[in-house]
Amino acid sequence: MTEIVRMDKAGVTRAAALLREGALVAFGTETVYGLGADATNAEAVAAIFQAKGRPRFNPLICHYPSSDAAFRHVVADERARAIGRSFWPGPLTLVLPRQPDCPVALLTGAGLDTLAVRVPDHPAAMSLLRQAGRPIAAPSANRSGHVSPTCAQHVLDELGGRIAAILDSGPCKVGVESTVLDLSGPEPVLLRPGGVSVEDLEARLGPIRRGAAPTASKGLRSPGLLESHYAPDLPVRLGAVSVADDEALLAFGAPLPGARCCFQLSETGRTIEAAARLFEGLRWLDAEGSRLGLRGIAVMPVPDTELGLAVNDRLQRAAAPRGQ
Ligand code: TXA
Ligand code: MG
Repeated sequence: MTEIVRMDKAGVTRAAALLREGALVAFGTETVYGLGADATNAEAVAAIFQAKGRPRFNPLICHYPSSDAAFRHVVADERARAIGRSFWPGPLTLVLPRQPDCPVALLTGAGLDTLAVRVPDHPAAMSLLRQAGRPIAAPSANRSGHVSPTCAQHVLDELGGRIAAILDSGPCKVGVESTVLDLSGPEPVLLRPGGVSVEDLEARLGPIRRGAAPTASKGLRSPGLLESHYAPDLPVRLGAVSVADDEALLAFGAPLPGARCCFQLSETGRTIEAAARLFEGLRWLDAEGSRLGLRGIAVMPVPDTELGLAVNDRLQRAAAPRGQ
């Protein structure tokens, strides 16, 4: 059963408590309804992908009640701070490098070194974020492949029975998603047009390049996709039924014997736990395996059920031959 909570004091308190417990709560913003989870809780974030039925992990936006709170988790130069001052709260998302001690789960940003942050302009969303007291990851609150919802009833139609609660925050006044602006490199890049016009941004920043950002050192951007993906430096071998002496092991279920360096995705074979631990595991094995002089990462099979589909999608891309 999905609770519908009103945007009064008691309702916001209830919704914030659910978020803090790791439950999923949809809430209205000025753009569209978001499907929220505690961004620092990897299993709660994995549950977002499960509820949406998304076959892939894409990076999610973290929502904050103020620009000060947002800028604590990312590296913001003077240019980013000025844009934040001018356009927040509002329908703008900034992509910036993560702070080294950023507590946001790696799954929230799909393993990337950058994080998308936004301060929404909606009183109920603001009080919810303030009371939750932690960043809230929230993609649009629709099933994968469907349009973004702009009222509580749409969310109920899409996700009723799959999430803990919906904070009924009334209709969304902007109705389209936030503009996504990448300020992680020297040149500003528009990753998604949205509620703030590119002309208004250019008036502050000068020319903004349209389209996907340049290839990052750690990831390849697929043509037509607005996201890069994390790939470890060590080669990844899928479907392993044994481990070589010079391989690290990414285990799922009872680990294969003989690995000198092993990261367990889920001892009990739960795909949601594997999703929550995937990026942490790849990064750890990459660093630890390299330190030990190992030459690759062997990955045990993960079933294609529930979140296993998205885990396997990401593993296949990590194992794919690298571009130049
Ligand atoms: O208006 C909105 O932005 C709504 C409300 C709920 O805030 N949220 C939303 O989230 O539209 P979602 O997940 O549907 O779209 C997030 C967009 C995607 O295009 C994603 O690729 C991009 O932001 N994004 C997130 N993190 C990124 C990153 N680190 N680098 C590049 N793009 C990123
Ligand atoms: Mg969406």
